[in-house]
Amino acid sequence: MKKVVIALVVLLPLMMKAQSITNFIPQPVSVEIKTGSFIIDEQTVIQFNEQQKEIKAAVDFFSSTIKSLSGFSLPKNTAKPKKIIFKIQSTQEIGNEGYQLSVTPFSLSIIANTKAGLLYGIQSILQQLPAIRTNAVLEIPCMEVKDYPRFKWRGMHLDVSRHFFSPEVIKEYIDLMATYKMNVFHWHLVDDGGWRIEIKKYPLLTQVGGWRVDKTNLPWGQRPQAQPGEQATYGGFYTQEQIKEIIAYAAAKNITIVPEIEMPGHVASAIAAYPALSCKQVPQLPLTGGNYNNISSNYCAGNDSVYQFLQNVLAEVIDLFPSAYIHIGGDEVDKDPWKKCARCQAKIKAKGLKNEEELQSYFIKEIEKFVIAKKRKIIGWDEILEGGLAPSAAVMSWRGEAGGVEAAKMHHEVIMSPGNPCYFDNYQAGPEGEPLAIGGMNTLKSVYDYEPIPKDLNTEEAKYVLGAQGNLWTEFITTAAHLEYMILPRMLALSEVLWSPAANKNWLGFNERLKSHTRGFDQKGLNYSKGNFKVNIKTISEKGSLQVDMFTEADNATIYYTTDGSTPDIGSTLYTKPFYITSSQIIKAVTVINGLVMSTKPAEQTFVIHKGVAKNVQYQTPYSTYYPANGANTLADGIKGTLDHGKNYHGFNGKDLVATIDLGNSQTISSINIGCIQSYRSWIFLPQSVKFEVSTDGLTFTEVGTETNSIPATEQSVFLKSFKANFKEQSVRFVRVIAKQIGNCPKGHPGEGKAGWMFADEIVIQ
Ligand code: ACM
Ligand code: ZN
Repeated sequence: MKKVVIALVVLLPLMMKAQSITNFIPQPVSVEIKTGSFIIDEQTVIQFNEQQKEIKAAVDFFSSTIKSLSGFSLPKNTAKPKKIIFKIQSTQEIGNEGYQLSVTPFSLSIIANTKAGLLYGIQSILQQLPAIRTNAVLEIPCMEVKDYPRFKWRGMHLDVSRHFFSPEVIKEYIDLMATYKMNVFHWHLVDDGGWRIEIKKYPLLTQVGGWRVDKTNLPWGQRPQAQPGEQATYGGFYTQEQIKEIIAYAAAKNITIVPEIEMPGHVASAIAAYPALSCKQVPQLPLTGGNYNNISSNYCAGNDSVYQFLQNVLAEVIDLFPSAYIHIGGDEVDKDPWKKCARCQAKIKAKGLKNEEELQSYFIKEIEKFVIAKKRKIIGWDEILEGGLAPSAAVMSWRGEAGGVEAAKMHHEVIMSPGNPCYFDNYQAGPEGEPLAIGGMNTLKSVYDYEPIPKDLNTEEAKYVLGAQGNLWTEFITTAAHLEYMILPRMLALSEVLWSPAANKNWLGFNERLKSHTRGFDQKGLNYSKGNFKVNIKTISEKGSLQVDMFTEADNATIYYTTDGSTPDIGSTLYTKPFYITSSQIIKAVTVINGLVMSTKPAEQTFVIHKGVAKNVQYQTPYSTYYPANGANTLADGIKGTLDHGKNYHGFNGKDLVATIDLGNSQTISSINIGCIQSYRSWIFLPQSVKFEVSTDGLTFTEVGTETNSIPATEQSVFLKSFKANFKEQSVRFVRVIAKQIGNCPKGHPGEGKAGWMFADEIVIQ
């Protein structure tokens, strides 16, 4: 026994050192740390075969980076005591993108099958060095590393239509991707708000479609559509020369750019340029934001000249982009204009199609034929499954994983990009304390925990999942700093999901390694989210009493809190274990690491203690299993919801809420209210009306009030509203609340004609 204990005592510091001295993200396949280190200084030479162009490009990248970090110009292929060796040589097991590092005190070698592998080896080396030039020595621990990726599609998307980002910002995005071994840049170049790629044959696409009336003073959802005569001053586009340069820039970093030329919907910008492409053929301007009506967003699927136009556009796109895949969009097509269009209906008839879904499928298949003739493949959002998938199309699964599963089972290639957790336009900790975002919540840990292979696929089907992708839509993002904030550090978590073997993933280890990366972001002036330091405040509701439980995703952290509304700091109460709440109060809490408050803003939770707290809630129809919140009694847990609808709310899809609370015995009450949220973009609408009833026996109920909603379902800001009834004091045992939902999503909403959601957080009885 004793021997074992001694062995552990000796081993432990070594193991911990190994963890703390490497800063790899993503974590390599295997790392074996040795004693000692290799120091890059004037006594160091780079050795490589100068005849191999591929190696030279990698060496040039390495030596220019070392020069910027240290001022040294490392000599090449001369005699010096310490060598950095670059080699491309056939090496088993590591594949097209893998590399091997071998670091001793006198030599550092990077070996790979390809230039891509050398570049990734270099990125791994650079992650061990300071992020910027300092006085620190350039020291790399001695080690043996073998590394290669788990998935071949490690994607990041960027919407440059809702906001145009300059070529410099695009290159910065590409640089960040390359640092974390991401290899596909999905460039969303076309949408309603702007056409961003020069097409020589159709100059108006950018001259007209690239510019919109500037309404950036308003949040996206409130921006009214431009009126005729208003100046279109906001936008921009990339010339074909700029695009070629960006493609080459990305290729030098092993990044393939997949262009997205959206169709047949989301093209109000193209129609602004050429109105004849739409069903109505009426002049219009590109969309300014999300509040519009009577605008054409679709190409006319019955007009043969539209197909000719798209072939001409795609011919230029294919000439520019070497990518094997061309993304043709396909998402969120409102089929109504096609229902009303004589040409579209004639096409349905002529081609023997059943409905507008099949018309969309016909449209995509026509485009696919052209793309295949050009020796490329199409990829589209998962709506392209509806009405029949084009024969060799790849599918990007964004509305959850179901589309990806369906396509993989049909042996089509799939990229996983489900809204949860791959949409990086969602909050990572907020809404409180974060810049305004589209809604939803994808925390750093939720991204880290993502497994791209759905459980529903067998081993054979799983092979069709090429990888996954983080998507960044930019309705709410207008600056490079905000862009950085949304992807940092979530992209780092995704990179580990996509590169590292699943068995090597380790959340605590990732947290530890992340520290040197966020220090580097600070040094380089990169903006990143500290959302992972947010305190999560939960409750445990049991036998009529309520306890508060707090935790944070961050490793090695402590939590301090207040209950009087003041801002917590290290002098506040230290959280040690769950505690009871007996009166209404607001809890505010922060995460502290090494004596420093890490949260950018304290987390806060309002508790209302009322007569219904911790009592049983019975629903006539159950709440959606997607929104379980804090369990069956969420509407009586004393917790008010916030602007984050994913927490503390029960959601009802297309159904009324009928909830009965049994107070257990007779209680004197004089008011009841229920809290609801509206979030238009998330398909959540206030109820039409709420009726409040009471009963002494649970059988006969008497109405004590009804409140009718007067706020329109088209109101697009995210907001909360309480519905209430005040009445003469009376003794009752049962309370029933009937919230009538609005029915289908309103006209002009992306979900028009489909059932809307209704969300409630608490029934407060006093
Ligand atoms: C999408 O987010 N509409 C693909
Ligand atoms: Zn039409």
